[in-house]
Amino acid sequence: MNTYWVKTPTKSYPVYVTGLQDEDSWLKPLKKIVGTSPLLILTSPRVARHCWKTLKKALNVLDISYQIQLIPDGEENKNIKTVATAYSGFVKRKVDRSTKVLILGGGVLGDMGGFVAATYLRGLKFIQVPTTLVGQVDSSVGGKLGIDLPEGKNLVGVFQQPEAVFCHTPFLKTLPRRELRGGLGEVIKYGVIDDPKLFGFVSRNVEKILGADPVCLLEIVKKSVAIKARVVSEDEKESGLRMILNFGHTYGHALERLTDYETYHHGEAVGVGMVWAASFLIRWVYVQNLYFCQCWIW
Ligand code: GLY
Repeated sequence: MNTYWVKTPTKSYPVYVTGLQDEDSWLKPLKKIVGTSPLLILTSPRVARHCWKTLKKALNVLDISYQIQLIPDGEENKNIKTVATAYSGFVKRKVDRSTKVLILGGGVLGDMGGFVAATYLRGLKFIQVPTTLVGQVDSSVGGKLGIDLPEGKNLVGVFQQPEAVFCHTPFLKTLPRRELRGGLGEVIKYGVIDDPKLFGFVSRNVEKILGADPVCLLEIVKKSVAIKARVVSEDEKESGLRMILNFGHTYGHALERLTDYETYHHGEAVGVGMVWAASFLIRWVYVQNLYFCQCWIW
């Protein structure tokens, strides 16, 4: 098991990355983090179908009791209506301030479930257990939580750090190829902004990664989490360095919005956004050079 620490002024917490070989090593830290608090699992029917068996087994081994609440996932449901449904479910289940919320799911569930937890009763403690590549390499780490408005993506939200993040890479083995390809967009982003070796690793192993090779997936999750943890530790609230993580996102979000969140997955839109941003930069440099040459000739 590999542990990375996010150390921010508001909270320090571990991000555990585990692979096939350490199937059970995340259980001990999970037990410690849940402690004696009542536990509420927030997940979606789709995620539960693929991942609940593994988590249920872990909770049974650890003798942790829990309640479950299901909410829909998918970008089209990342809105105030689903949040209101989740709040009502919390009331029905008598969730109080001592309850910890464990969010089991991908990027949308992590952002939206975290937002529900961080705002219900002025803030509950929560644990992220991301089950997609985008969730593991990016959105579950760093405490950016929120929902979309009809006017745009992630327009409502808060910064609130989780108690811990468990990136258990065997969850990724059931992901469709398209989900893995989307997640790879965020991994390539880390390669471009910070780690040429990671970029090279992805280029050499792209087919293995898309085929859910466990060794390659573990490698790219570890490398990505290490970068994300370091950047967030330096700039929690995105006042400087953290903006680098938005490479490709401005165009990407616009593309998602313009296509009503129906055509592109988030990671795919980020991939297109990075190409557009890079080509804009190349043109800008070209125009600057042209201008400089003209001034020089005149
Ligand atoms: N996904 C970019 C960030 O967390 O800052």
